[in-house]
Amino acid sequence: MKITVVGAGAVGASCAEYIAIKNFASEVVLLDIKEGFAEGKAMDLMQTAPLNGFDTKITGVTNDYSKTAGSDICVITSGIPRKPGMTREELIGINAGIVKDVASSLVKYSPNTILIVVSNPMDTMAYLAHKTINLPKNKIIGMGGALDSARFKYRLAEALDCPLSDVDGLVIGGHSDTGMIPLTRLASRNSVPVTAFLSPERLEQVKEETKVGGATLTKLLGTSAWYAPGAAVSSLVQAIACDQKKMFPCSVLLEGEYGLKDICLGVPVILGKNGIEEIVEIELNDAEKTNMKESADAVRAVNALL
Ligand code: 2OP
Repeated sequence: MKITVVGAGAVGASCAEYIAIKNFASEVVLLDIKEGFAEGKAMDLMQTAPLNGFDTKITGVTNDYSKTAGSDICVITSGIPRKPGMTREELIGINAGIVKDVASSLVKYSPNTILIVVSNPMDTMAYLAHKTINLPKNKIIGMGGALDSARFKYRLAEALDCPLSDVDGLVIGGHSDTGMIPLTRLASRNSVPVTAFLSPERLEQVKEETKVGGATLTKLLGTSAWYAPGAAVSSLVQAIACDQKKMFPCSVLLEGEYGLKDICLGVPVILGKNGIEEIVEIELNDAEKTNMKESADAVRAVNALL
């Protein structure tokens, strides 16, 4: 199983590290445009192998896509991260051109790959990938909801004062500070609805904290987060590589599902060896349907800037 990660920055390198440590891939190619940068990160990561006990071979390359040939899964993390006070949408001017070029270069050498898009504004970048390369729609996946759901679980566990392993929660909609939809109605603590433990007011606070989870970290770190984004991507890669049939919220091209067409937006999907095995349509209440429509409208406005 060969995986390529484009972008050896914090997110890409974290993703490569988690993939390696999980030891399900034979090879990870880490590619960057900065001379020697990916090579250095790959060498440093390989020197953790005796300590972390993995056999995955991590190779770094500088802008040579021929070395990515035959990749089963490719991940695009390249582009600029946001700074404190910025929205993800403000990155479109620079990142759209990068994602377009990278996606085209990857598919040239790996025409049968499954592509995971991470670069922001992610829903629009995933949509751009569909418009740029001719991979079937089940093979282009935007990573946002898996990360947002992890942050949702973190905030729920904080409010419940319980272990994170006791909590389940799903975030759908756009991967944006305003457009994501933490489904508090469906969240649970060990199968018990969280509404049995938390007041509507506290749940609203959890929802808002989740929505700005990325911005909160960017303010603290001075740049976008990388550990949880890297871990979220590696979980999607593992589900595909190991044909786990695991369900994650991912940004995928909708063609009528949830009443939406010609847009990439976060919805629950089953991931397996074919990439998106199934788009899962869950029953939403009226408020959630309205939120989904508003979230889609906001993403379409950004798509229009392409
Ligand atoms: C985040 O939310 C980078 O969009 C990513 O941290």
